[in-house]
Amino acid sequence: MPILSPESLRERLSCAPREPIAHLPTPLQPMPRLSKALGGPELWIKRDDCTGLATGGNKARKLEFLLGEARAEGADTHSYVIPPGGSSATGALGYVNCAIEIFEQLAAEGHESATLVHATASTGTQAGLIVGLSALGADIDVSGINTYAKDGAAQESDLRRHCHETAVRLDIECPHDERIQIDHRHLGDDYGLPTPGMFEALEMTAQSEGLLLDPVYSGKAMAGMIAAIRSGELDTTRPTIFLHTGGSAGLFAYRDAISARMAKTESAPDR
Ligand SMILES: Cc1ncc(COP(=O)(O)O)c(C=O)c1O
Repeated sequence: MPILSPESLRERLSCAPREPIAHLPTPLQPMPRLSKALGGPELWIKRDDCTGLATGGNKARKLEFLLGEARAEGADTHSYVIPPGGSSATGALGYVNCAIEIFEQLAAEGHESATLVHATASTGTQAGLIVGLSALGADIDVSGINTYAKDGAAQESDLRRHCHETAVRLDIECPHDERIQIDHRHLGDDYGLPTPGMFEALEMTAQSEGLLLDPVYSGKAMAGMIAAIRSGELDTTRPTIFLHTGGSAGLFAYRDAISARMAKTESAPDR
């Protein structure tokens, strides 16, 4: 697959209409205390919880291109239809843009390879990242953690379709199938239902780095990253980047579950 420079990929992206509403680029920050707590690889966090618009998150990047297209089509509110999660080839362009940011920020930190972990649901975020990173020839593996779908095979087929359509949109080759994968082990009983791993991930990330994740998406994704470090699945010779896709406002909806968990752990004999 021919490799594009960040400039040429940006040029292709610039052909799509866009409304610049997000606060970009978001920072890429080190997480040395979480890395130490886990005895793991060098850990970084890409702060897409800081994309602006109320409490930030991944939708702001997708909306830049979705709103751009709606405006270009002269759509009004009866309109233009935004698919669930903003996941279409147009929405995924926002994450092609994020892929370029990550590639350049990682290089500025002196790294050429990494593993990228994030929450996946309607798969537009993951499709944009995979398409963007493969177009750049980046040695960055994308590990999407399923936080949404009980039917994992259907979710993977959505991801493949979104990758294909996004690549066609940019007139680049579709990434190879081995790059298009989802880890289904951390969903728990269903979408939005707490898991012990999620609670632990929320606590560890807040206590070590002062960062708030959310119980539905980034908490389960972080649980996946922690499990992969502990099981030795993650390549510790390269840094791991956790993409924080936002959603921490969702913490308020889980107040009772979090209080109950805290009361239980605080009364445990070894604390
Ligand atoms: C906070 C948060 N993170 C991650 C995701 C998953 O993104 P995608 O639907 O593009 O897979 C969502 C989707 O709703 C979300 O709200």
